[in-house]
Amino acid sequence: MFVLAHLSDPHLGPMPSARIRDLAGKRAIGYMNWHRRRKTFHRTEVLSRIVNDIKAHHPDHIAVTGDILNIALPGEFAPSRVWLDTVGPAHDVTFVPGNHDAYVRKAAREWHSHWGDFMKGDTTSADQFPFVRRRGDIALIGLSSAITTAPFMATGKIGAPQLHALPELLDKLAADGMFRVILIHHPPVTKPAHRFKRLMDAAKFRDVLRRHGAELVLHGHDHIHSLVMLDGPSGKIPAVGVPSASAIGGEGELAGYNLYAIAKAGNGWRCEMTSRGLTHGSDLIVDLGKQELAAA
Ligand SMILES: [Fe+2]
Repeated sequence: MFVLAHLSDPHLGPMPSARIRDLAGKRAIGYMNWHRRRKTFHRTEVLSRIVNDIKAHHPDHIAVTGDILNIALPGEFAPSRVWLDTVGPAHDVTFVPGNHDAYVRKAAREWHSHWGDFMKGDTTSADQFPFVRRRGDIALIGLSSAITTAPFMATGKIGAPQLHALPELLDKLAADGMFRVILIHHPPVTKPAHRFKRLMDAAKFRDVLRRHGAELVLHGHDHIHSLVMLDGPSGKIPAVGVPSASAIGGEGELAGYNLYAIAKAGNGWRCEMTSRGLTHGSDLIVDLGKQELAAA
């Protein structure tokens, strides 16, 4: 049995001090927003408790699906690497970036040196997407939906090169009998009211999944526990979201994460999801429920 943990959207604090020239444009809005509101909802001590709780369950691997940063200030990158190192060694922790990690265009230049070890495929160079990491019978497929957007927008895009590479890669992993887990920041389905934060090429992504399959899609971005069953070539594909791992309020749910116990069963798979997190009025991280997910 392989145990995979999934957390997302840590939105690490505290916000480092910023030079005036770093706060031009979109960052100025995000900086004010953090100090007025977001810093009260995203708490480092909560994130530490979540990570400790994950480690107490001894997962074989931990997936982190983006938004480690807030406004991608130069001073946010080094602490984010320090934090990733506390989650676990890069061999056992996989990271894909979110929209806050691409808050400004030049942010992506920093990804390679700070996070490359955690988003490096087994046979590809760091931050080359999609990447694949094989761990036992599990294949972790990292996609980037992180793009720089206009102020007040939080959309994402996979883009043609990744969508073009994905089918062959999924087919090969299926032929090798792997349990395919796609890691992406933006959800593959967004409510119409949330168009400002949608994955713009979600329909094309779902079409690839419908034709080539995957056993599981893990995402963040919406800061809530969610489960959507997508069409696959031979059954449904669960797409699962988790709240921000540091949240104690705001627009999303309280901090939480998911554990997946994955094992071969006959010609298919068993995959049991356990959700854990905070509940209102308590500092304890508790079981929020278990669910057997049908594999494709
Ligand atoms: Fe996000």
